[in-house]
Amino acid sequence: MKRNRLSITVLIIVIFLIGSFFVEKKETVKEKMPTVGVLQFVSHPALDQIYKGIQAGLKEKGYEDGKNMTIAFQNGQADQSKLTTMSQQLVQEKKSDVLIGIATPAAQALANTTSEIPIVLGAITDPVSAGLVKNNQKPGGNITGVSDKSPVDAQFDLVTKILPKSKKIGILYASSEENSKYQVEEAKKVAETKGLTVKTFAVPSSNEIAQTVQVMTSEVDVIYIPTDNTIANAMQTVVSEADKTKTPIIPSVDTMVEQGGVATVGINQFDLGVQTGKMAGAILSGEAKPATTPIYTFKTGDIIINQKQADRLGISIPEDIQSKAKIID
Ligand code: TRP
Repeated sequence: MKRNRLSITVLIIVIFLIGSFFVEKKETVKEKMPTVGVLQFVSHPALDQIYKGIQAGLKEKGYEDGKNMTIAFQNGQADQSKLTTMSQQLVQEKKSDVLIGIATPAAQALANTTSEIPIVLGAITDPVSAGLVKNNQKPGGNITGVSDKSPVDAQFDLVTKILPKSKKIGILYASSEENSKYQVEEAKKVAETKGLTVKTFAVPSSNEIAQTVQVMTSEVDVIYIPTDNTIANAMQTVVSEADKTKTPIIPSVDTMVEQGGVATVGINQFDLGVQTGKMAGAILSGEAKPATTPIYTFKTGDIIINQKQADRLGISIPEDIQSKAKIID
């Protein structure tokens, strides 16, 4: 009898202990739901697509906002001081486990705030010249991610094929954007090899865009736009000014073709985001470390054509290009 009672007591204690272990474990899991801090430089269609892709990429890796991780999202609205305070918030208040910077200025603000928390670059044109990593193959620090370096060579090939008479290319970009400076240098080199001449038009801010485009339309045959956030954000203005003289625009990405560019060879913006999200997921789960994860670059882009805009400007797209292209109406 006595032994029986003793073993029942022991059994109850054991059950209680096991039970409390599970309860505790569940609580710690809840407490430790990881946070992904996302800082987007500004809103324009390309960056908005990238953010959507990031969420899809994280999901592919098993992380869903509100279920087993939290996304703390901030948009800097192209304001440098906002980017700084938001970076601090994501680090200090939100205690992010992984940070994602969408566009160069956002990634730079995060990098200035922490050298410990992993940072994943969301579509940064050139991480090396932006001072974010020393080496694309071996980043070495707390930063890795995705580069959206444009296929400039293929883009200029496209210009020579669909606009064979256009020899003078004007490049429109914002002087404040380091990512654009890199691409402008690339474009100058590539243009020379294709018998095109390049003239650059840097705007100090978005206020000068309309006037600058007016000047461009009288001086060049075609307007080329790199992956420049300031210009992407003012694409409507660029298109309406260029339309007045029927000057075609060759931008660098699909979303800017949709907004009134004629055509491009571009990297899908959503796909860029998916890749960024997958890398963040792999770092979150411990599968990968920034220091030893090379920067991911896309090798090719898709041909995108805005048929309506081509028709409006009287540009006929050769059959062999049309058959390979994604047509936007
Ligand atoms: N590459 C840009 C940067 O480093 C960001 C970017 C991604 C972008 N996609 C774009 C800019 C499309 C303009 C248009 O800041």
